[in-house]
Amino acid sequence: MNKKNTTVRHAPGLTGLSRAGFSSGFGVLAATLGSAVGLGNIWKFPYLTGANGGAGFLLVYLLATLLIGLPVMIAEITLGRQAKANPISALQALAPKGQPWWLIGAAGMLAAFLILSFYSEVVAWVFAYVVKAMRGSILSSDPRVTEAAFSALISDPLQSLLWQWGVLVFIGSILLLGVTKGIEAMTKKLLPVLFLLLLLLCVVSLSLDKAAEGLAFLFKPDFSKISASVVLTAMGLAFFKLSIGMGTMMTYGSYFRDDQNIPLTTLRVMSADLCVSMLAGIAIFPAVFTFGFAPAAGPALVFITIPAVFSQIPLGQGLMLAFFLLAAVAATGAMLSLMEVPVVILHERFGLSRARATVFTVLLLILLGASCALSNSALADFKLFGLTMFDLFDFVSSNIILPAGGIFIALFVGWVWGFKKFRLALGNHGQLHNEKLARAVFYLLRCVSPLLILIVMLKGLNFF
Ligand code: TRP
Repeated sequence: MNKKNTTVRHAPGLTGLSRAGFSSGFGVLAATLGSAVGLGNIWKFPYLTGANGGAGFLLVYLLATLLIGLPVMIAEITLGRQAKANPISALQALAPKGQPWWLIGAAGMLAAFLILSFYSEVVAWVFAYVVKAMRGSILSSDPRVTEAAFSALISDPLQSLLWQWGVLVFIGSILLLGVTKGIEAMTKKLLPVLFLLLLLLCVVSLSLDKAAEGLAFLFKPDFSKISASVVLTAMGLAFFKLSIGMGTMMTYGSYFRDDQNIPLTTLRVMSADLCVSMLAGIAIFPAVFTFGFAPAAGPALVFITIPAVFSQIPLGQGLMLAFFLLAAVAATGAMLSLMEVPVVILHERFGLSRARATVFTVLLLILLGASCALSNSALADFKLFGLTMFDLFDFVSSNIILPAGGIFIALFVGWVWGFKKFRLALGNHGQLHNEKLARAVFYLLRCVSPLLILIVMLKGLNFF
C-alpha cells in the first residue's frame, strides 16, 4: 500500500504557518476528541437527560447520533479536508460557481458566537468551582447546602461577569499560540485522566444506597415521556456534542492529513465521546436519587450533585478540585475549537491577522456574552420568547442553527458534490477500500438525514 502521500496540501494563498495541520494520526484523534468532549458531556448531557425523563431521552439521543450525527460529521470532515480552507471558502471552492452554499459557513459563524456566549459562562462556573474547591470545603451531601453555594455564584452579577471575562481572555491567549501546539499537547495528556476520574466517581456513585433507582432512571425507558420537543432536544444535543452543523468539524477537517482514515476517526471520536457522557450520567444519577436532588434541576444539576458524590470519599476535597480542573481542560479544548471558526474566517476572509481576529472575537464575546452572564441576576427578567438570553442562545444554536446546518451539509454532499467525489475523498483517493461504507453514508446523507432532521425540527418547533 502506498503510504507516501502524507504531507498536508495548502490551499492557494495560505501560508504554511496558519494552516500547519496536525502532526500525527493520534494528534488528529486527540484534537478532534478535544473539540467533541467538553461541557456538552459533563454538564449538558446529564442535565438534559435529567430534565427530559431519563432513559427515553437517552435512547432518542443515541439514534440521533447514529443516523444523523455520524454521517454529518463524516461529511463535514471530508469537505474540510478536501478544500483545506475555512468553512466559507471551503464551500465556495467545492460548490458550482454562484451557488450560495457558503452561507452554511456564515450561519456557522453566528452559531459560534451564540454558543460561545453561554458556553463561556458555564466554563466560568467551572473555573469558579476550581477556586472554591481550593479555598475550603464545599463538600456536602445536603441538597440545600450545595444548591445555596451554586446560586450564590450565579446570582452575583459581578462574579459572573469577571469569571467570564477571565475565561474569554484565557482562551484567546491560547489561540494566539496557534493550532498544533495549543490544542494537541494539552488534550492528549489530560483527557485520559478525566476519564479515570469519572470512572472513580462512577464506582463511588454505584455504591450509594439508591444506585439502582438512578440506573433505572438512566436505562429503563418510559416512552410516555418522549414528546416532539424531547426528540428535538435530543437531536440538538447530538449536534452539540459532536461539534457539528456549524463548520467546527469542517475547520478541523482542513487540518486532517491526507492519509487519515476519516470514517474510523469519526467512529472513534463518537464512541469515546459517548463513553464520557455515559460515565458522567452514571456518576450523577445514583447520587441524585440517594441524596434527594431533583433530576430536572436544569443547568445547576452537575454543580450541585458532584460535591455530594465527592463528600462520600476520603480525599474528596482534593479529588473534586482535580475533577473541576479537568472539566476546565475539557471545556477549554471545546471552546478553542468553537473560537477557531470565527477567527479563521476573519483571518482568511477579512484579511485580519490571526492576532487581530482573535482579539476582535474575544471583545465581541465579552459584549455578547454579558447578556448570558447576567441571565441569572441583573437580566433574569429580560426574556424573549419566554427565555432568558442564556436559554435563548442555547435553544436557537442547538435546536435550530446546528440542525439546519446539518440539513444543508447533507444536501450539499448528497445532491451537489455527488457520490464520485465523496467516495474518492473518503477513500483517500484510492488508498482505502471503503466503497460500501461510502455508499451507505452517502445515501444516509442524500435522503435519510436531511428529511429526518427537517421532520424533527418542524414537529419539535410546533409547525404541525
Ligand atoms: N462539543 C463540545 C462539547 O460537548 C462543544 C462544542 C465545541 C461545539 N465545538 C462545537 C458545539 C461546535 C457545537 C458546535 O462541549
